[in-house]
Amino acid sequence: MERPALTVDHLPQLIGQFYERLLADPIMAPYFAGIDLSTHVPHIARFWAMALFGTPGYHGDVMSVHVQLNARLPLQAATFERWLAHFDATLDAAHSGPKVEEAKQRARTIAAVMQHRMVDR
Ligand code: HEM
Repeated sequence: MERPALTVDHLPQLIGQFYERLLADPIMAPYFAGIDLSTHVPHIARFWAMALFGTPGYHGDVMSVHVQLNARLPLQAATFERWLAHFDATLDAAHSGPKVEEAKQRARTIAAVMQHRMVDR
């Protein structure tokens, strides 16, 4: 059966599945140590609801959060590749269609900007 299109209502569950993958990966898990998933997952879901569907409700500063994270625990090119691979795998396991492709593309663009600021110096 064809995987369903991604809608805004799928995001909380999808981000939960994404974080299950990140936390199961020994290279990625240390970055998320101490994060309270019960508030973080809905926060990230609101980010994607805004980015993909224009839904208001996300308030945050994506870049400065990662600049601070990088100062604590350096992010490397390989870290971004793994993050993106888990993101794509989460989406592809559950959904298909243009919103999936848009999400993957948006993630890549943001990751490239982060990487440019933090890794390729
Ligand atoms: C190397 C890969 C990445 C790692 C290890 C990582 C890790 C983290 C961590 C640990 C936080 C929580 C920080 C805190 O609350 O103190 C966070 C927040 C966040 N991340 Fe990432 N991240 C990565 C890449 C990305 C990418 C590519 C995106 C692009 C969509 C992204 C989107 C976000 C957003 C929206 C937040 C919430 C920012 C806020 O409003 O507080 N992350 N990330």
